[in-house]
Formats: sequence, C-alpha cells, structure tokens
Amino acid sequence: MEWRLTQENLTHLATDAIFLFHTEDQASTHGLVRQIDEMIDFQISHLISVGEVKGEYGELTILHLWGQIPAARLFILGLGKEEKLNLQRFKQVVGKGIQRAEELELRQIAMSSPSFLIKRFHTVDCVQAMVEGAELAAYEPPSFKEEQKQQFVKTIFISAHDYSLSAFDEGLLRGKVFAQSTNLARFLTDQPANWMTPDAFASKAEEIAQKRGLEFMVLEQSDLDRLGMHAILTVGKGSLYSPRLLVLRYTGDHGRKDSLALIGKGITFDSGGLQLKGDKEMFGMKRDMAGAATVLAVMDGLAQLTPYHNVMALLPICENIVDAGSMRPEDVIRTYSGKTVEITHTDSEGRLILADAISYAKKLGASRLVDIATLTGATIIALGFEATALMTNDAQWGLEVKRAARMVGEKTWELPLFEEYEEYIESDIADMKNDDGMEAGAIQAGVFLKQFAEETPWVHLDIAGTAELTKERGIMSKGATGVGVRTLLQLALREVEE
Ligand code: BES
Ligand code: ZN
Ligand code: MN
Repeated sequence: MEWRLTQENLTHLATDAIFLFHTEDQASTHGLVRQIDEMIDFQISHLISVGEVKGEYGELTILHLWGQIPAARLFILGLGKEEKLNLQRFKQVVGKGIQRAEELELRQIAMSSPSFLIKRFHTVDCVQAMVEGAELAAYEPPSFKEEQKQQFVKTIFISAHDYSLSAFDEGLLRGKVFAQSTNLARFLTDQPANWMTPDAFASKAEEIAQKRGLEFMVLEQSDLDRLGMHAILTVGKGSLYSPRLLVLRYTGDHGRKDSLALIGKGITFDSGGLQLKGDKEMFGMKRDMAGAATVLAVMDGLAQLTPYHNVMALLPICENIVDAGSMRPEDVIRTYSGKTVEITHTDSEGRLILADAISYAKKLGASRLVDIATLTGATIIALGFEATALMTNDAQWGLEVKRAARMVGEKTWELPLFEEYEEYIESDIADMKNDDGMEAGAIQAGVFLKQFAEETPWVHLDIAGTAELTKERGIMSKGATGVGVRTLLQLALREVEE
C-alpha cells in the first residue's frame, strides 16, 4: 500500500472511494463531510435524518456518486458514541473500510481523520492509527494454492489540510512499521512446520538481519554443546533439524553497555515429545514459534524506527518431536546456568529453551529482560483468548510493560509469583523439575523461568491464548495475531528513565 499526502481538497480527487466518518452523537454533517454533502444535494443529511445512517460503531454505508464529484463512491463509516471513541476503535473502522474496498476490488482511496479525533489526540497518533488499521486489515496469510490472491488497494491519499508534514511523516512511519512488523510475525507464524523448520527460521532471521543492518550471530549445535546449553540441546535432540540459538542486536546508543533483551520461544513444531500430544491438541502447534517470530519482527521494526537504545533478541529455535534421541521423562539435564532440571514432562519444553536463552542474555549484558512465549495451555484456562498473562520479578518493570501494552491496545493481566509457588517445581533429584501437573500451570512456568532471570528485572508474557485466533475478530483474520509486536516496539521506543 502506498500512502500519499495530498495538497488537493479530497473533493477534487478522482479516487474509487472517499472514506468519511460519522458518530452517533452527530445530528448533522460537519467539515469535509458537510462540504461533500452540499455537493451531492444533501444526500448524507437525508440519510441521517431518516435514520439510515446512524453512525453506529462498525456501520458502513456506501453511496455511489454518478459523477456528482470526481470520486466514484463514498464510504460513510460509523465510529459509534464519541465518549467510547478511541484510536483502537478508529483503527478497526478504517480497517473494516479497507476490507470492504478489497472485496469491491477498489484501487485508490482517499481519507482524512475526522476533526473531533484530531482535537482529542496527537496528529501523529491519528495518522498512525489510520495506517495501522488499514495495513493490519489487509494482511494475507501464506497460501499454497495455485491461484494467489492479489491486493487491490494500492494508493491511499490523505489530505494535507489536517496535518503538518512532519506529523504525517512520523505517524506514517510508525503506523507502517507497527503494522508491517505485526504482519511479518503473523506470516512467519502461520507457515506450516514443514516449511518453517529450524533451518528455515534461522535463514529468515539472517536475511532480515542483513536487510536491516542488525548484528547477527548463531550458536550452532556445536557451540551450544561447548557452552553447556543442554536445555536447548535436549529439547532439539529428537529432530532432524539441529537446535540453535539466534542472537540479533540493534545498537541505537553506542555509548551505553546496557541493553534490553527480548527472548522469544521458537518451537517450530511441538508434538509434545515422547509424552506425545493427542491428535486434536497437536493442531496449532506449528505456531509454537510465535514468540520468536514476534521478537524477530520487533527487531525488523526497530531497525526502521531507530530509537536511541540498545536491544538484543535471543531466539532459541528447536523442533520438539519424537525420535530415538528424544529426551525422556525423568532425564536430568544441566542448564547453561549450572542449575539442573529433572524432566517431568517432555511437553513442557518451552521453559527449558527459554531458561538457557535468559541466562545467555544476562551473560551478554542484558539489564532488562522480556520473554514472550506460547508457553502453557493453562493460560488459556485462566484468561481465555482475551489477554496475555504477564508475570514479573520486578513490579516497576512489570508496570512499564503493562503501560506499553495498554498504549497499543493489547490486553495483559498479571498472575502472581508468590514464593509459595516455588514448591511446585521442587525435585527430589535435581535443582528443579520442569512440570508439576495441572494446578497453577501458567504460574509454574513463570516460577521456573524466574530461577534463571534471578535478580535481573524480567517480565514473562505467556501468549498461548492470544497468539492465534480460531475465528476472525474485527479486522484481525483467523490465524496468527502477531500479538506482542506492537507492545514490544512501544516498550523499546520509550524514553529511558534512568
Ligand atoms: N506449546 C504448548 C502450550 C500451548 C498450548 C500453546 C495450547 C498454545 C496452545 C506447551 O509447550 C505445552 O505443550 N504445554 C502443555 C504442558 C503440559 C502437557 C504439561 C500444556 O500446557 O498443556
Ligand atoms: Zn510448546
Ligand atoms: Mn509442549
């Protein structure tokens, strides 16, 4: 999609459609809508007065103009009640308009933010919301069909009347990067596991690092062995594809040594291992690398937004599958930290690979940690598909992550890591075990990871319930959601407060 700022009044543009917005509180037309209304014999006012255009949230009315003005049609989009209106809702409405425009195979669109939005929010944020809504709505998942879908909407004009050039440029860049990075994570996550193998994931990461000028390093199997990263090695032992740990670094501030570390679970397929999942539970497990895809996409975005901070990504990539080499229940392994773990469940593999990655992040000088992982079915039992579970060893750092999530409209909910929960991971034979059954399953994983984060401020995001939609919701199609990309971008963009 190409976005263009135009000096022309939108009424002069011969586009396939102009998007206009209306709320439930407006009894008449104003501003640009009024201008167009006058040019088309008050058709819009008429529709409002007879109650056909109500302005309800998500409502869409299409008017054909038959030459009354150069544009072919008007999309009148309802924004709902003004008191409930926010930028998240605005995004949804813009996206819905774009989806309809795609169905109608329209190529050129013109739009501008309604004046009441511009009054209430920063112009940068208004532009960002428009761009994000449109680009997220236009996502196409990977398809292996002979016939490929094409994207119709090519150009979107935005009126220069409403914005300064610098606000437009800034909002456009952010909106594009936030949405395109999210779509990149979705696209990687939605790939079948026979395509997105550990080898393929590593190549993709290298390609992105090269394209964006990010530092890139791979710890191959032999390196993991030399360093004693037996947690990652053990999980990957049953696979045809060797396990590895990818490290990407973005340096925005050469003067500082400290860095934020983002760690993403990258299980390209989770069969459960020897304690094999059932036939139904295995569906969706091609997406068990959603955390790693999210972090990779965040790095792709950060390199374009160029904040003055240092951020590193650690992506442990393995396939949890069955073979003579597979880890067994009751095996004991020594992790990179030196702590030993008894494997009490081969399907609790995510926390194992994250453990080594967290320790290594600290070794590389990370001062703050965030891990993101499709870690436990228990998170879905606790929070459903609505919210990401958040756990932390540092209330202040937890608050910062929550704030970033709230700003981009992603929901998180904190679960406690009371000391008492540590009993769940006690083992008779090792420093800890990786699983203790049903109770407090999401928290067990959190308590386990906390042993590796130790004193470093750390936040754990369990996205098992939010990384995938089983049916479409608003502008998000079913499949991978790219959850966390925008939260982590927002977090990495924040001003450093120390
Ligand atoms: N990758 C799964 C968690 C998961 C489940 C993600 C459903 C998305 C949707 C994780 O590795 C896992 O298998 N967890 C098991 C562990 C249990 C069997 C001990 C779980 O939570 O069911
Ligand atoms: Zn898993
Ligand atoms: Mn598993």
